[in-house]
Amino acid sequence: MPTDPETLTAPSLTFYDLAPDTGNRTAEILAGLTAPQKVLSPKYLYDHRGSQLFEQITQLPEYYPTRTELALFERYGADMAAAIGADAAILELGSGNATKIRLLLEHLHPQAYVSIDISKEFLRASGEDLVEAFPWLDVHLLCLDYTSPWTLPEALQDLNLAAFYPGSTIGNFEPDRALAFLSDLRHKVAPRGWLLIGVDLRKDPVILNAAYNDAQGVTAEFNLNLLSHINRLANADFDLNHFRHVAFYDEQLGRIEMHLEASCAHEVTVAGHRVSFVEGERIHTENSYKYTLDGFRDLAARAGFSTLDVWTDERDYFSVHLLRGGT
Ligand code: AVI
Repeated sequence: MPTDPETLTAPSLTFYDLAPDTGNRTAEILAGLTAPQKVLSPKYLYDHRGSQLFEQITQLPEYYPTRTELALFERYGADMAAAIGADAAILELGSGNATKIRLLLEHLHPQAYVSIDISKEFLRASGEDLVEAFPWLDVHLLCLDYTSPWTLPEALQDLNLAAFYPGSTIGNFEPDRALAFLSDLRHKVAPRGWLLIGVDLRKDPVILNAAYNDAQGVTAEFNLNLLSHINRLANADFDLNHFRHVAFYDEQLGRIEMHLEASCAHEVTVAGHRVSFVEGERIHTENSYKYTLDGFRDLAARAGFSTLDVWTDERDYFSVHLLRGGT
C-alpha cells in the first residue's frame, strides 16, 4: 500500500513508498513458471543481494558497459548539462547507487533530483549519501516498480523534468515494450521533454558473451540469486544447486539471453503449487538487447523523441543519447 511521503534525515530528502503489494507479484511469478517456456521477470534479479551483486558486476573486467558509460559522462558531462540547462529537475529511473548522476550534478545544479528504484534499502542509502555529498540538492526518493504503470506524486508533477536513464537498462525491455516505455516517459516529462539515455551497442559476440559469463562467476551468482528472491517473495523452495547460469548472444535478435537451467529433473513448490522441471529445462530470466546507433535513433523517433546529440567512445561500444520530446 502506498504510504504518505516520509521526510528523512534532512528536510531536502523525501521518501515515497509506492512499492507494489506482494499478492500481484505471486500471481505474476506463478504465471511465468507455468508457461510453456518458463520465464521470470528480470526485475526479480534486484533484491538487496541482487543489487549488491549487480554493483560487483559493474566492476568486472569483462563487463565494459558501466565503465565505458562513466567515461562518457566524465568526458562529456559538462556538454550534456549545458544542453539540458539549470532549470530542469532530474528524474532518474532505476538509480542504483547513483554514481553516474553525481558526475552530472556537479555541472547541472538541477532544481531537484527525483530518484526511482524498486530496491528500498538501496534507494534510501543512495539518497542519504547524495544529500551528504550535495547538501544543496532537493532529493525525492520514489520506491516503485517503473516497469508497471505508475504516476508521479502530485507534489512533483509541476517540475520541469529531464529524465535520466543510464546503464542501457532500456535493453532489458522487449523492443515493443521499449517503445511503449519511451512513449510513456515522453508524456511524463512533457512539456519540457528531455531524456538522457545510455544504450549499449552491437559488437563482436566474443566481447558480449564474455561480459555475461565472467570468469569470477559473479553474473552466475546474480542470476541464481533471483531464485532466492523468488523463494522469499512467493513462498517457494527452489534449490539453487539444481540450476546453472546460461548466457549467450543471439546475433540474429541482437540480444544476450540469460537463463537458469535445471541440472536434473525435479519439482519445486511455489505458493502451494507444484512446478516440475525436466533435466536441461530453462527459466528465461533476462534479455539484454544491443542496438545500432540508427536502430536506437529510429526507436526514439517512433516514441516521439528527436535526437539532439549522441556521444560514443572510441571503440563504439556504448552510446549516450540526448533526446527531446517537448517544445
Ligand atoms: C541492468 N542491465 C542493463 C544489465 C544488463 O547488462 O543487461 C543487467 C545485467 N545482467 C547481467 N549482467 C548485467
